[in-house]
Amino acid sequence: MDEAKKRIFSAAQPSGNLTLGNYLGALKNWADLQDDFDCIYCVADLHAITVRQDSAELRRRTLETLALYMACGIDPEKVIFFVQSHVPAHAELAWVLGCNTMFGEMSRMTQFKDKSRSHADNVNVGLFTYPVLMAADILLYQTDLVPVGADQKQHIEIARDIAVRFNNNYSPTFVVPEPYILKSSARIMSLAEPERKMSKSDPNKNASVYILDGKDDIIKKFRRAVTDSEACVAADPARPGVYNLVNIYGAVTGKSEREIEESFKGVGYGAFKDAVGEAVADLLAPVQTRYKDILADRAALDRILAEGAEKAAYIARKTLSKVYRKVGFYQIDKKH
Ligand code: TYM
Repeated sequence: MDEAKKRIFSAAQPSGNLTLGNYLGALKNWADLQDDFDCIYCVADLHAITVRQDSAELRRRTLETLALYMACGIDPEKVIFFVQSHVPAHAELAWVLGCNTMFGEMSRMTQFKDKSRSHADNVNVGLFTYPVLMAADILLYQTDLVPVGADQKQHIEIARDIAVRFNNNYSPTFVVPEPYILKSSARIMSLAEPERKMSKSDPNKNASVYILDGKDDIIKKFRRAVTDSEACVAADPARPGVYNLVNIYGAVTGKSEREIEESFKGVGYGAFKDAVGEAVADLLAPVQTRYKDILADRAALDRILAEGAEKAAYIARKTLSKVYRKVGFYQIDKKH
């Protein structure tokens, strides 16, 4: 690891099939950052069980998520990759940070409010303290920047608040992290309800494009995407359906909103939707081919995970020991 480079940490939950939102909002940027930063990426399985998971499926998805990270271009030679439950320091630091986080702060988290509504039969304490665990993930690695989609901004802000409070109450211990959010791809919306974000946990399979969807499905989903009756391609936030398509097309092709409006002037929604579908399918096709090859070599994936966990644990341990010393936990003198 290069000491001069800034540290990046990010993670995704293996709680469903990853979507185009995850790809554009996170994975693609993670790959773009790996040459210029010291990057650590994690599969957040501890977070995933805040919502009930089928055990066999969670196990399978954890490996698939790692394979997908790699298929998106993230290179295990350049970054540290690991599974959150393989590094015990995450759960350990979360306890200490939880004792430095206020009940009121957690109650204000919008994701907690949303998820307690959508999982009313399982409003567990883990769901409530989720942001504390996320703060532990980030702070353990002395992270400078956290590349995420806009939906995670509030969680990064609370991680900053917790870091500042701990540093003030004890003494400087944690780097205070900054969110790193790209405007064009920060918020990819549902194709069925464009006022809501595209989400891997959405039960409506037509609302999300999955990274592993075939070309026909992708085209079909975009054809069905909810728009409006104005039949004019415009980057207008007041028309969320079309705006979302413009946004996606821009994120995929690198074209500006103006360029897109110009090139689709006088063109109906049908042709525009097909153009977006084609562009997305072309973007994802090579990812899908790589994914199949990577997933086929289970032994190689296990080796990458073992090595990643070891490297991550080494860094995490250093921070955790510092924290334990500062809060006053007795440490056995190895000389005795
Ligand atoms: P998760 O698994 O929901 O999503 C992974 C990443 O994808 C981004 N994302 C989106 N970006 C744009 N448009 C969308 N529709 C969209 N949907 C998802 C998310 O913002 C995220 O960057 N709590 C986190 C996982 C996590 C984490 C961390 C992230 C655990 N510990 C520490 C950063 C740092 C989550 O549930 O992401």
